[in-house]
Amino acid sequence: MLASPKEEGTKKQFISCIGKLELETDINADLHSVPLVIPCPGMAQVFRLSKLKDATNAFKEFNEPGRGSYGFVYKAVFANGRQVAVKRANAATIIHTNNRDFEMELEILCKIRHCNIVNLLGYYSEMGERLLVYEYMPHGTLYDHLHGGLSPLNWSLRLKISMQAAKGLEYLHKEFVPPIVHRDVKNSNILLDSELGARIADFGLFTSNEKELRGDLESDVYNYGLVLLEILSGRKAYGRDYTPPSIVEWAVPLIKQGKAAAIIDQFIALPRNVGPLLKLADIAEKAVMENPSERPTMSEVASCLEQIVKDGLIL
Ligand SMILES: Nc1ncnc2c1ncn2[C@@H]1O[C@H](COP(=O)(O)OP(=O)(O)OP(=O)(O)O)[C@@H](O)[C@H]1O
Ligand SMILES: [Mg+2]
Repeated sequence: MLASPKEEGTKKQFISCIGKLELETDINADLHSVPLVIPCPGMAQVFRLSKLKDATNAFKEFNEPGRGSYGFVYKAVFANGRQVAVKRANAATIIHTNNRDFEMELEILCKIRHCNIVNLLGYYSEMGERLLVYEYMPHGTLYDHLHGGLSPLNWSLRLKISMQAAKGLEYLHKEFVPPIVHRDVKNSNILLDSELGARIADFGLFTSNEKELRGDLESDVYNYGLVLLEILSGRKAYGRDYTPPSIVEWAVPLIKQGKAAAIIDQFIALPRNVGPLLKLADIAEKAVMENPSERPTMSEVASCLEQIVKDGLIL
């Protein structure tokens, strides 16, 4: 269905990725008796457009938690009460990515499954319409908690979120050959699930050639470092209200001079031991090293953070 006859090999691989049985089940399903999202790890379901339309009130604005460069994002609530997020490609996205590229994107997305990733549940793609169906993240983005109207996060949560986001990125960098580069690591692409666990979103839409790969992995680490500095300080990566406006130019000299305490967000209650936060600052400083080859890998970052979380905060 998604592959042309010339691309039989890809088609076979893709069918095994999306799960042929699920497609057939969905087509023959009674509208109300079969769960719409089959909780089967590693599989994505082909959704019916009519179901997605019903569940989003025909893609109405009040069902829209946000919009980005890809298109609009809608909250969908199915008849059985299950909530999902639907990303609907806008016309520009559809024009600029051909079907073959979209199939490749889907192929990658279908293989990805991790507890620190916003996992793809399924899709719909036909007649100029491209819909990606993801797990719904009820607690919004990390950006909204740090800089938007959502509740501020305490230090235990910030520490846990830093670790989980690192583990999500480590998974993308380590579990796949070739590795999956995110290329858009930022706090609006880190979402929070029902337990306020961090989930990485919006990856896999890019492929790097061999020459670029190393540099791309290193820039994911840099961007993760920026997020870490934002988590620590509560300030934006770039803000004209600050001197200097760049978070790196502001924070790195302080950390290097042993004054990391000066960058720590003063608006939330500090733990009794600030040691773990100072360690976080050290990791951030290394992740944003100017020389990319001096930056740690995501695996190194994740295991340092795991240790910091294990040692714990005294509240
Ligand atoms: N799975 C999801 N569950 C709940 N809300 C989501 C989900 N995915 C996205 N959103 C919401 O939709 C908004 C837009 O997301 P989208 O990824 O399209 O744009 P963005 O991340 O802000 O920018 P960009 O286009 O650069 O990625 C997010 O900021 C978030 O509030
Ligand atoms: Mg996004």
